[in-house]
Amino acid sequence: GAAAMPQADLAGRHVLVSAGGTREPLDPVRYLGNRSSGKQGYALARTAAARGARVTLVAANAALPDPAGVDVVPVGTAVQLREAMLRAAPQADAVVMAAAVADFRPSVYLAGKIKKQDGQEPQPITLVRNPDILAELSTGRAKGGQVVVGFAAETDDVLANGRAKLARKGCDLLVVNEVGERKTFGSEENEALVLGADGSETPVPYGPKEALADTVWDLVQQRFRQLPH
Ligand code: CTP
Ligand code: CA
Repeated sequence: GAAAMPQADLAGRHVLVSAGGTREPLDPVRYLGNRSSGKQGYALARTAAARGARVTLVAANAALPDPAGVDVVPVGTAVQLREAMLRAAPQADAVVMAAAVADFRPSVYLAGKIKKQDGQEPQPITLVRNPDILAELSTGRAKGGQVVVGFAAETDDVLANGRAKLARKGCDLLVVNEVGERKTFGSEENEALVLGADGSETPVPYGPKEALADTVWDLVQQRFRQLPH
């Protein structure tokens, strides 16, 4: 039979997604980084575009090809990611923070490369807090009726930690990735639970990142429907 056309249920909507992981420079050649590949954020951008949305993707250091038809804004650090998100957010109907943002950055950037010296102990690296971009986007909603979504990886007490984080961030949905050996949702390690500020819990079985992305957009779409277009 004929292949089903993707449903353009996000047509007329503008969504803003962050992806990848920030890098916080120490000197011109070194940084503090994390292992985020960017794949989940890119899957969110691709699936939203396939469902008809206009998509802005703020991409932090992701070595992935630009998704077709998506407006990609490359960034490096958490401070740059914040600036790009705050600039784009006023036009967005939904904001999804899938990027792994460094909680801390080196307190000083050394314009010259750090050199080792014989007979000298290395200098400790001191850190300062980065801004909490998700909390800022949630509390200062740039557009009426905007839906804000966060991501979190938790190990112990996934539900309690997830609920507390959702409340702390002030977002509408929090996608909690279970990491470690919990058995609550079966034996796979990467199952997700999407928590809603309305008390809802949507388990997403282990599967491709596109499937999780589609579930996120379904839940966002439900929240759009409760509001005027
Ligand atoms: N996040 C953010 N800005 C930060 C840190 C995190 O916007 N400075 C966002 C992430 O993009 C993610 C969500 O907040 O969507 C949760 O990230 P997580 O690291 O789990 O939250 P933290 O508040 O940093 O808590 P923790 O101490 O557990 O790392
Ligand atoms: Ca963190």
